[in-house]
Amino acid sequence: MQIVICKDADQASKMVAAYIERAIKAKPATVLGLATGSTPIRLYKDLIRRYKEGRIDFSKVHSWNLDEYIGLEPTHPASYRYFMNEQLFDHVNIDKANTHVPDGLAKDVEAAAQAYEDGIKADGGIDIQILGIGSDGHIGFNEPATSLVSRTHVQTLMLGTRQDNARLFFDGKLDEVPTRAMTMGTGTVLDSRTAILLAFGKGKAPAIAGAVEGAISHMNQASALQMHRDAKFFIDEDAASMLTPKNIDFFKAVYADSDLKALENA
Ligand code: GLP
Repeated sequence: MQIVICKDADQASKMVAAYIERAIKAKPATVLGLATGSTPIRLYKDLIRRYKEGRIDFSKVHSWNLDEYIGLEPTHPASYRYFMNEQLFDHVNIDKANTHVPDGLAKDVEAAAQAYEDGIKADGGIDIQILGIGSDGHIGFNEPATSLVSRTHVQTLMLGTRQDNARLFFDGKLDEVPTRAMTMGTGTVLDSRTAILLAFGKGKAPAIAGAVEGAISHMNQASALQMHRDAKFFIDEDAASMLTPKNIDFFKAVYADSDLKALENA
């Protein structure tokens, strides 16, 4: 795991955008795993800027989103398909036919979940998986006690998760937040070649402390990333604030020696 403690959310988002730019230049048909939520919005803005400046060509890129609410039409403003179109896809030259979001309206959800897994495999697997983190440590919508080797499945959402998302995306209307979602499993995420988790703000500090310094536990799904072959956390000072001070110093020293440093001004 690499822990990059950034000055602020802007710097972290730009560094991850620079990392993605570098990856797409090296492999134009990069397969991205994408996330929703308020956290990656700055990253998507910076990817759009880089596209407009002619630095990234998305024409061969494929994408697979982590999750989608069950029962929301793709045209619903709080659906994750709508979010992705609005925050990224409508502004870059990605072919929408190559963008994938789980089908929250599927009649046979089991079959749709299996088809999603099969699709990722047939696409060659995910090169770079972008992740946010829930205040309970969830990644995608894998809530506490989900199997750490789970694959794409239907997940019942915790009240706290629905409250967080009601505040941010449903004008505070808890009743309108679906109770279930289809999400890649934590096992699906662990199969990605590189996983990049973004976390900003004090509200994420306990989840980050658990994921980085806690034991691997299904109660903090992000802690499973300790088993990932190449997980990178780009977090701000507030999200890092509950890590042990000596570890913060160590992570900063490791970062100073790493090739990721080149991303700061890229
Ligand atoms: C939702 C999404 C997660 C996201 C989390 C955090 O639950 N399914 O993928 O990481 O929210 O959201 P935010 O970035 O708004 O804090």
